[in-house]
Amino acid sequence: MNQEYEQDDRFETDEDEAEATRRDAGDAESSRASRGWWDRNADEYQNDHGAFLGDDRFVWGPEGLDEAEAGLLGPAEELKGLDVLEIGAGAAQCSRWLAARGARPVALDLSHRQLQHALRIGGEVPLVEADAGALPFRDGSFDLACSAYGAVPFVADPVRVFREVRRVLRPGGRWVFSVTHPIRWAFPDEPGPEGLSVSASYFDRTPYVEQDAAGRAVYVEHHRTLGDRVRDVVAGGFRLLDLVEPEWPAWNGQEWGGWSPLRGNLIPGTAIFVCERED
Ligand SMILES: C[S@@+](CC[C@H](N)C(=O)[O-])C[C@H]1O[C@@H](n2cnc3c(N)ncnc32)[C@H](O)[C@@H]1O
Repeated sequence: MNQEYEQDDRFETDEDEAEATRRDAGDAESSRASRGWWDRNADEYQNDHGAFLGDDRFVWGPEGLDEAEAGLLGPAEELKGLDVLEIGAGAAQCSRWLAARGARPVALDLSHRQLQHALRIGGEVPLVEADAGALPFRDGSFDLACSAYGAVPFVADPVRVFREVRRVLRPGGRWVFSVTHPIRWAFPDEPGPEGLSVSASYFDRTPYVEQDAAGRAVYVEHHRTLGDRVRDVVAGGFRLLDLVEPEWPAWNGQEWGGWSPLRGNLIPGTAIFVCERED
């Protein structure tokens, strides 16, 4: 992967002053914070994780579970000719993998800078800059929808997103998305031994917010328990087919933020929900 790209000064701000807290954050504030944070941090994200993600691999999370082996979207040989929406696509690595299998992916993301990285890497995948809560597509436009850690962890109202996904899917279409495993919210987000002791209530749904000196959110993540996520999937009009908790593989010695081999061998880091549109 070519890491030689021009930094864009428009997206640089000093986030050192941001204060981390737990407080409520609604849909509009969460979206605004996400767009700003991902625009400012896309360069660093792609620089740090681009090699692990690969330009045209479909990786579900820091464990490195690859769609080529997992087959959560269905058998790879049956992807040919399918219309697929990737939500929170970042630099569209997963969409490039889908395109190489003969699918017709569309890569959607809120962040302009993330999509500029998709353009930098190249390929023929159509890119759409939009919020997952208001998908700019006609009803029944896609056979499949997928998201590797895109959008869902960052929105205040996941049911709104799921209903939108349901609307743009054809009857029986699959919706597969990964998020931080909810159990992680009970532990410090640290890769070492300090990340192994419970420090917060798993049941506290108050969002994690980083805010600037004026109290404006600059980063927001939303916690839902496993049960909440199941209820959200059902409320969004889906059947839950599977809940995959990838185990940390022996080959993966790489840390990614609070994800590490040490913790990954003891507690799950990622939850992947495999859903199907209720007709
Ligand atoms: C952790 S990155 C994952 C990107 C990519 N799937 C990957 O695996 O590298 C999360 C992505 O979700 C996008 N995102 C966050 N909130 C969103 C929203 N409300 N609508 C669409 N995209 C959103 C961000 O801009 C970012 O590119």
